[in-house]
Order: sequence, then C-alpha cells, then structure tokens
Amino acid sequence: MWKGRFETDTSDRLVAFGESISFDQRLYRHDIAGSIAHARALVSAGILTQDEFDQIEIGLTGIRDDIDAGNFEFKIELEDIHMNIESELTKRIGAAGAKLHTARSRNDQVALDTRMYCRDAIDAIREAIGVLQSSLVEHAAAHPDAVLPGYTHLQRGQPVLYAHHLLAYVEMLDRDSARLEDARVRVDVMPLGSGALAGSTICLDRQSVADELGFAALSQNSMDAVSDRDYIAEILFGLGLLGIHLSRLGEDLILWCTAEFDFARLSDAHTTGSSLMPQKKNPDIAELTRGKSGRLVGNLVSLLVTLKGLPMTYNRDLQEDKEPLFDSIDTAMATLPLMADMIRDMVINDSSMRAAASDEMLLATDIADYLVRKGVPFRDSHDIVGSLTAHSVREGVAFSAISIETLRGFSEAFSEDVYDVLQVKGALAARQGIGAPSPENCASQITRWRTDLEERPKV
Ligand code: ARG
Repeated sequence: MWKGRFETDTSDRLVAFGESISFDQRLYRHDIAGSIAHARALVSAGILTQDEFDQIEIGLTGIRDDIDAGNFEFKIELEDIHMNIESELTKRIGAAGAKLHTARSRNDQVALDTRMYCRDAIDAIREAIGVLQSSLVEHAAAHPDAVLPGYTHLQRGQPVLYAHHLLAYVEMLDRDSARLEDARVRVDVMPLGSGALAGSTICLDRQSVADELGFAALSQNSMDAVSDRDYIAEILFGLGLLGIHLSRLGEDLILWCTAEFDFARLSDAHTTGSSLMPQKKNPDIAELTRGKSGRLVGNLVSLLVTLKGLPMTYNRDLQEDKEPLFDSIDTAMATLPLMADMIRDMVINDSSMRAAASDEMLLATDIADYLVRKGVPFRDSHDIVGSLTAHSVREGVAFSAISIETLRGFSEAFSEDVYDVLQVKGALAARQGIGAPSPENCASQITRWRTDLEERPKV
C-alpha cells in the first residue's frame, strides 16, 4: 500500500513484529460501516460517482459477509484490518476500490473503528452488569429474613440483613455502569476527516458521516483526534474498578463457602473438584474473578504507560492500545454472566448465618444507644458497655443472662426494658434511617432496583 517510495520489501521480522491483524480483525464490521459512510461523503464531494459508490458498497458488504461466514483469509503482510479490507476490495472491484482511501488515513480510520467498537462494547457490558445486578437483587428478594454479621476489619461488628449486604454490591456495580455510560459520551465523537493529522485538502461533509454512523459529536481538532486515546483509558479504568468490585464480591463468596463460615454453598455447576482431595468443592469462578482483576488493572497501567511521553500526534505506539482494551472487554464479558449465574444458583445456610449474627456482642452498640436514650452521654455509655463486655467475656455470660441488679451496678440507667434491645430482629427494625438495613428499607430498595433495572435499555 506504500510501495511507491520503497525499493525492497519489508523484512519478515518487521512484518511479524508490526502486524495487528491477528487482533484488530475484530474491528471489521466497524471498519466496513465506516468505509461505506466515507464513500458516501466522497460521492457528495464529487470524488466518486454513484456507480463507483454502489460497487464499493456491494464489495464491502460482500467482504463483511465472507468474514462473518469465516470465509476470508487475513494476510499479515497487509498488516492490519484496514489494509486487509481495502486491498481485498480493490482486488474485487478494481479502480473504484482504489479511490476509497481519498481524504482518509489509517490514523483517523483506526480511531473511528475503535470508537465504534467501544460504543458497542460499553452497551454490552452495561447490559451484563445489569444482569448481575438483577441476580443479586433477586437473591436478596428471595431471602428477606436472612441475617448475618456485618464485619469491619473482618471482625464481627453489627447484625445486618443478608439483603443489605448483597445490595451493597448492587450499588457498586451501578457506579461502574454509570462510569461507563459517562465515558461513552467522550467515546461518541466522530474523528474521520482528521486524516493523518491535518485533515485534507479535499473537504468532506463530516456531519453527514457522523449522522450515518450515529455519532453525537464531531472531533474539533484533527491533531487531537488522531492521537487521543483518553476514551480507552477511561474505559480501562472503568473496567479496572469493575474488576476490583467483582474481586471483592468473589472474596466474600469464597469466605462464605469455607467450612469456617459455612454461610453459602455454590452449585456443582459452578464449582470444581480437586484431583487429589476427593472431598473438595472449589469456588474457582470467584477465585478466577479475583485473579482476573489483576489483568484488568494491568491493562489500564499498560495503556497509560504507552501514552506517557508520546509526542504529537499519531505514533505507532498507539497500536498497543488494542490488546489491553480487547482483553479487558473480553474479561468483563466473560466474568459478569458467570458471576450472575453463580449467584442465582447459590444456596445460603440461613441458620449458620443467623447463629453467627445472634452473637450478642454484635448488639453492644445497641446497648450503648439504649443508655444514650436514657440520657447517658455517648462517650460514657461506650465506656460502660465496654466494661460490661469485659465482664461478659470474663464470666462467660451473655448480655441477656446478666441480671438487672448486676447491670445496674454498671449504670443506674439500666432498667428491665434493656432486654428488649437484645433481639436481632428488633435491632434491625430500629435501623430505619435512609440507607440503614431495616427490613422495610431493604424491601423498598429491592423494589427500587427492580424498577430501575427493568427500565435499562437492552442491547
Ligand atoms: N494498525 C494501526 C494501529 O492500530 C493502524 C494505524 C496505522 N497508521 C500508521 N500510520 N501506520 O494503530
């Protein structure tokens, strides 16, 4: 494609080193749609006749169908998807094909293709996030009474509804989805017409190209347009943080499935055995999800380091943007549905959760709050309940088994109604503030999420 200036062929080593066709072939549909829109603009500009456009459109859709059907031979000598398609088109239709690259460079072409690909990927990932959110919401809805200890420092803190715990992940995932939706605004900018870096002396109607390809905006600086990869960095950050959230969810599930916790069991379909220890059921999906967060974060770092220090404008380094991008998208798209399935089929052990949550130590804060309601300043009540806890541990006696006389020895403010505080059910019901885990709050959150997720557009 650049033979004019060269006397010898490219070295085989360089061909193998520089090719991107092995991974950018997945851009073919976008490349072809972009070329058809570009060809239409060339007609309006008087560069192509309608007849030449028709030949190009038929040629390109034929190539697309052949690639769809697996009947297309990609050639690494043609380096990338852009040159593979253009060269095949010219082979098929001749002279008209050779006019297609007028007023275009692979620099604006690859930016166009990648942006179109990213729009679709974001839509698909957001839909998959919604499916996982629904799986969590439905699991929460199916276990409205389940309680478990809430932990800080992985030490038992206070009892919470199981639903509240699951809905915390629904919130995190919603931020991931919103972040990608926001990034999509900056993806949805049409770069074609920027040429190699300085536009072209042949002026095309860029707005009509953008309209045909469904872009919301046009890039306004040709140099920025061919060198900008911020939108990929944003997506990779969004997917990196999504990966971290999924990793944390995975870690909770791994803990819950240990004999020590025994809060949950994963289905046979979503666990694996050990080749040595016959009793094992391993939570591999959750572990691999936790593990794959490493590559998601790595892909972001990889791109940022690639971008650092690049002079304006396009540099071949930028070809290194695609593998991290594709890998993160593939990883997210593989992980999200599996996590959704695994949670849907997970069985929880209500009674062992409840037993753990019934540890009266978890209600120490509630006793301190009780004293506050009786007029004791919180710092004093914290101190009193601290001493009471030490007593309870020393004597091996639960709060509810300590007599009222003994309790009054710790504070005159105690009376018989303190024993009412020592019920998990009441403790949860009392947590009515916005965002707190009362059963009423959890139920209305489930309703809110169901409506919200229902209304999300599907790809
Ligand atoms: N395969 C290239 C990439 O991904 C396409 C653009 C090539 N541009 C160039 N001037 N060599 O970046």
